[in-house]
Amino acid sequence: MEYKKINIDDLAVLKEIVGVDFVFSDEEKLLEYSSDETEDLSFPPEVVLKPSKTKEIAEVLKYCNSNNIPVTPCGARTGLSGGSLPIFGGVALSVERLNTILEIDERNLQATVEPGVINQIFRDAVAEKGLFYPPDPSSKGSCFLGGNLAENAGGPKAVKYGVTKDYVLNLEVVLPTGEIIWTGANVLKNATGYDLTSLMIGSEGTLGIITKIVFKLIPLPTKDITMLVPFSSAEKACEAVSAVFRAGITPSALEFIERDAIDWTLKYTDVKLQIDTDVQAHLLVEVDGDDMDLLYKDCERIFKVMEVFECGEILLADSESQKNNIWKLRREIAESVKSNSVYKEEDTVVPRAELAKLLKGVKAIGEAYGFKSICYGHAGDGNLHINIIKGEMSANDWNYKLPLGIREIFELTKNLGGTLSGEHGIGLVQKDYMDIVFSKKALHLQKGIKQLFDPNQILNPGKIFV
Ligand code: LAC
Ligand code: ZN
Repeated sequence: MEYKKINIDDLAVLKEIVGVDFVFSDEEKLLEYSSDETEDLSFPPEVVLKPSKTKEIAEVLKYCNSNNIPVTPCGARTGLSGGSLPIFGGVALSVERLNTILEIDERNLQATVEPGVINQIFRDAVAEKGLFYPPDPSSKGSCFLGGNLAENAGGPKAVKYGVTKDYVLNLEVVLPTGEIIWTGANVLKNATGYDLTSLMIGSEGTLGIITKIVFKLIPLPTKDITMLVPFSSAEKACEAVSAVFRAGITPSALEFIERDAIDWTLKYTDVKLQIDTDVQAHLLVEVDGDDMDLLYKDCERIFKVMEVFECGEILLADSESQKNNIWKLRREIAESVKSNSVYKEEDTVVPRAELAKLLKGVKAIGEAYGFKSICYGHAGDGNLHINIIKGEMSANDWNYKLPLGIREIFELTKNLGGTLSGEHGIGLVQKDYMDIVFSKKALHLQKGIKQLFDPNQILNPGKIFV
């Protein structure tokens, strides 16, 4: 794709639209907006814009659409598939100034927010009113809700409560042409035409820029119990996962953590935890609700299931601080692995009863291709994060041999009934593998949707599809 380079006249127009103080073209800013949390990738934009209103975004898109300038929307840039990387330069359009919680409607258990609100700020604001917004990606302390929608983010609580998509009722969206639409209505059921709201969620900023979000909320559970279950076999830990659900229990989190993931994270955080040498993996299990007696009963049933899979001594968090420690350990795995080595992160997802086969297969592929992997993730959803460590691998093997190994991992995932990404998206780094999970026709339909929304291919070009 060929795009126009931004010149001084374009800059003057953009300054006119968003205000001179919110247009940045100095090297430091361009570098800052050149990367997200994906590997060590860096693609500087030509200009960074920080509009504060839907109308300004509409004018920017209208101008860029008529002048063949690419626009890449970005939020907190915590993404893991390169969705917000401005790979063709052009405009990086940050939604960070659209950061207002516009309304919390307690009568209807709904809230309307702008896309630049931080996930944790929103969950705290609704919790104050006894309400709950469940999607809780590990980056919840910094990621934006707009980005959560763009990638259809999940997190540990998805196993009981569902993902971002399950909490969005309606959206205001600026289309690549600068037109503004609402996608649905503020209602809990909607059988009115095609579901444009769902289409936007997970579209990775390629179809439009979300400027207002209407969320559905639920009552906040008041109690929870967290436990850490050790296993001397990682595969047995995976097998225990589907047995928990078969026993009729739906935990509010069921996470798998391989031994190395814990060891690496303990090195990079202040969390203290004593782990026996024979432990190869943990399951982190949480149950929540409003009645402590019922929760303890659930725990007893979970213990019984875990015993069948030869677990070790279960640690039941007996204080808020111990609970927070365990969760801190879990949430900081990705950052700790990144601090240790250059790595590539795969976000495979399979039907949950196939998790043990996936893990075993990944390790075998690693042996064949000579890479080490650190695995953890949302086991209850069958969602395994596979961190492939560069370690001593040569640049040649990393760049040319490894993609063949990754392809094998995804083929295995597909053969087990799964797919490429559960919650991180395709973005830039997984687009080469889309042919594994979609037929030519299915890809053609998706590209046709993109073409309809963005005929000039100016919005977040080069993402999702090759
Ligand atoms: C996590 C992120 C990497 O589960 O998805 O920690
Ligand atoms: Zn995750």
